[in-house]
Amino acid sequence: MTGQIVDTSSHRERDAKAQAIAKAKAIAPDVAARIGSTPKTTFRGDPDIFGRLVEDHDRHRALLAMIEETQGDSEDRRALFAELTYELKAHAAAEEQALWSTVLRDPETTDFARHAISEHKEIEDMLEDLAARDMASPGWLRCFAGLKEEYLHHIREEEQEQFVAAEKRLSASDAQHMRQVFERRKKAEKADAEIEKKIKLKD
Ligand SMILES: [Fe+2]
Ligand SMILES: [Fe+2]
Repeated sequence: MTGQIVDTSSHRERDAKAQAIAKAKAIAPDVAARIGSTPKTTFRGDPDIFGRLVEDHDRHRALLAMIEETQGDSEDRRALFAELTYELKAHAAAEEQALWSTVLRDPETTDFARHAISEHKEIEDMLEDLAARDMASPGWLRCFAGLKEEYLHHIREEEQEQFVAAEKRLSASDAQHMRQVFERRKKAEKADAEIEKKIKLKD
């Protein structure tokens, strides 16, 4: 349980977050999405690439919270985990193409892009590992908790460090254009995304 948090966010930020949660809820309307407070970011609700990426991050926060509410090898857990896998893979691939590929070429921000991209690989390995495990086993949720922690760390760091550094080096029109590239790429990536299964981690 999180404690009482004073909400000082604007309407625009709150609406953006509520819409992102609603998209996750559409997958399993009866499962609660308790995402609690989110780390502060100035990008939430922004009309450029960074606002669009944070919208996805909030959707992912909701999916992660919802999976934790599910039990065993249930229909809801299967549907939510499949959606999480497609979402995370498509988001990471489109984010790399729309944003990190450009940020990587700027010597000032190369390291920020490298860091984000290397974490994508770790997260993909964790997804494949979880997909290969029995959802009904008591250990599944424990492994899932590891993925959740890793992913929440990744998106918090993007929002608070890597996006901040990248934004300073990009023009407003770059950031606008990148949003369109991201939208297009994500749609295509999600249509092609698959669930791969491979045990990668030690128990
Ligand atoms: Fe990322
Ligand atoms: Fe991201």
